[in-house]
Amino acid sequence: MANATAGTVSLNLSGMHTGARDMVRLGMVRSRVCCYRARRRGLVMCAALSGSSNEDAVLGDVVSKPRRFPRVVGMGSKLIGCGSAVPKLEITNDDLSKIVDTSDEWISVRTGIRKRRVLTGEESVQGLAIDAGKKALEMAQVEPEEVDIVVLCTSTPNDLFGSGSQVSTAIGCKNAWAFDATAACSGFLVGLITATGFIKGGCAQNVLVIGADCLSRYVDWTDRGTCILFGDAAGAVLVQATAAEDDGFLGFDIHSDGQGYRHLNAKTCGGVEEVLSSTNGSLNFPPKKPAFSFIQMNGKEVFRFAVRCVPQSIEASLEEAGLTSSDINWLLLHQANWRIIEAVATRLHIPSEKIISNLANYGNTSAASIPLALDEAVRCGQVKGGDIIAASGFGAGLTWGSAIMRWQ
Ligand code: ACO
Repeated sequence: MANATAGTVSLNLSGMHTGARDMVRLGMVRSRVCCYRARRRGLVMCAALSGSSNEDAVLGDVVSKPRRFPRVVGMGSKLIGCGSAVPKLEITNDDLSKIVDTSDEWISVRTGIRKRRVLTGEESVQGLAIDAGKKALEMAQVEPEEVDIVVLCTSTPNDLFGSGSQVSTAIGCKNAWAFDATAACSGFLVGLITATGFIKGGCAQNVLVIGADCLSRYVDWTDRGTCILFGDAAGAVLVQATAAEDDGFLGFDIHSDGQGYRHLNAKTCGGVEEVLSSTNGSLNFPPKKPAFSFIQMNGKEVFRFAVRCVPQSIEASLEEAGLTSSDINWLLLHQANWRIIEAVATRLHIPSEKIISNLANYGNTSAASIPLALDEAVRCGQVKGGDIIAASGFGAGLTWGSAIMRWQ
């Protein structure tokens, strides 16, 4: 029934009963494979984590286990539009050196960042997401009413319950349902893979994926170790269903490892535990108003994790796509640190002229960084139709993943 050719499986439907044939036509085989893969991965990850309560266990030690399944494509998906938006206020490294003990030289040498944008006044992350989403639809020449799903990838929505619905309505996507996806700097990758799953499963034709974050609101502006890194922005892509033979989403790999949570987080505070400790264990009810603490990060550990896990993830995605690193036109990593980007490129033997980076101008914009850099590269003519891009996100959770995709 199935013939494996070059990493894909073509299906002969004639021997199937009608219901099964319909499911295949609707792309359900692909979605079942995805579920099965996810279940398998879950088992692998749990085994790796439960086997170790050791604080020094290697982070992300769950990657690169042989777990490949044949790629079954019922329907294809492709990226056909992108857009982005950034706040007006630009803060340079010299500006920061006036509020914390740092310098342009330290920041640019250690990170590659020279400036970043920060929300002020009436601006909001929701507003940026709306702008970016509208621009992506314009480029894709898709009307808002034609969008089936809006995925807002953010860790910093305007509302605890999420901002996806409001963003979707403001863009005019009146036939879409919307939700928020939270996975910090891997958020956009998670949204993209989710969108592709819905499309390949036959549940959607057009999915608008928006990455938007305002980590400036959660940074301690007296902590020179973190405040120099982050900026605010939004970026978006329109993912559209296409025939299986035109599939532009060629492979992906995605992981999470809660063991690394301690190295990067912004916890809630003012909850029950805090109340009990501040009252010597006697219950003080009702609890105080909850809030989030500032971003806490062990930069060295996150750095080590990124340069180890990101190349492994891209290699796994390339393997699924049936490609090697020499086949890709562009390497597009989450824009966190130029030294991380360079180290990953070196490990994958990708020359620096194939790297897309706008980190110097915007810093780490979390879930927005990949679509923001993609949008700039497309609009300036760097990325052209048919180019193959290896994208990878990594960050809090810890979470990390990659995707190999063709632009248009
Ligand atoms: N200016 C001047 N000196 C500084 C600054 C600063 N802004 N920050 C730290 N220093 C000092 C430290 O105090 C330390 O001084 P010491 O040697 O006297 O103790 C020295 O510089 C070295 O500090 P390190 O923290 O060891 O510097 P490092 O080279 O590790 O760079 C950095 C820090 C830039 C944060 C790096 O570790 C990094 O980029 N890590 C990865 C972060 C990342 O990728 N995050 C992605 C996910 S974000 C998300 O998901 C939300």
